[in-house]
Amino acid sequence: MENNDKIPLHVSIIMDGNGRWAKERGKERCFGHAEGVESVRSCTEEAIRKGVKYLSLFAFSEENWNRPEAEVNALMELMVKAMVNELPTFLKNGIRFIVLGNRARLDDSLNEMIDECMEKTAGCGNLSLVIFMSYSGRWDILQAAKKLALELAADPSRSAEVSGMGLEDFSRYLVTSGIPDPDLIIRTSGELRISNYLLWQCAYSELYFTDVLWPDFRAEEFDAAIQEYAKRDRRYGKVK
Ligand code: IPE
Ligand code: IPE
Ligand code: MG
Repeated sequence: MENNDKIPLHVSIIMDGNGRWAKERGKERCFGHAEGVESVRSCTEEAIRKGVKYLSLFAFSEENWNRPEAEVNALMELMVKAMVNELPTFLKNGIRFIVLGNRARLDDSLNEMIDECMEKTAGCGNLSLVIFMSYSGRWDILQAAKKLALELAADPSRSAEVSGMGLEDFSRYLVTSGIPDPDLIIRTSGELRISNYLLWQCAYSELYFTDVLWPDFRAEEFDAAIQEYAKRDRRYGKVK
């Protein structure tokens, strides 16, 4: 692990470009998704080596449900396969596995596997690997507001407490509660957008865009992003 205070605590990645990577090779889009799993492995190992404590990955958005059924199914199957294959490595390397998102939309069998993987790795402390599945930033803010509204409806005596709520209090209703906001958000494949990712949590994240397609984004590319992050001057609206 490197002793460097410029190492981000939380790195988040919008893993994009799998389809184009496959197309460039004359293959089906799913070939790119499968190769992308290798990039997840490589970046996870590198995150641990660098001393990053949280690595979060945008794996499947709420909008991605609108893709062809065969592609959605292939992505879900890949998730199952990756969990089965990687669990021993998670336990060996102290990786805590967490899945966040609209899990009600996932299959029961997938949810059972996710729960098992999360429970088995709950005590792991080297790195938290957070996978956003069926997630969108607007959905997250909406579900937080609904949860709060329902709590208040059930106990109107809390109205003064709710009126006095601050940003930190509200953020505890988001699915990312307990996880620090990302210091660095990386997006691969040359697209310059957030695509409804961590809208609340990205308020002061440093953004890093690269043309590299996700299946080609490995440890060296991860390091390049960390090096770029180290040069950034984070001011949070203040004067330095
Ligand atoms: C990212 O790659 C994976 C997911 C969004 C699930 P894409 O599948 O979006 O690949 P491109 O952007 O079409 O190349
Ligand atoms: C963003 O990629 C979602 C994930 C990486 C899971 P998309 O490929 O879905 O985003 P758009 O459609 O190009 O904005
Ligand atoms: Mg894409």
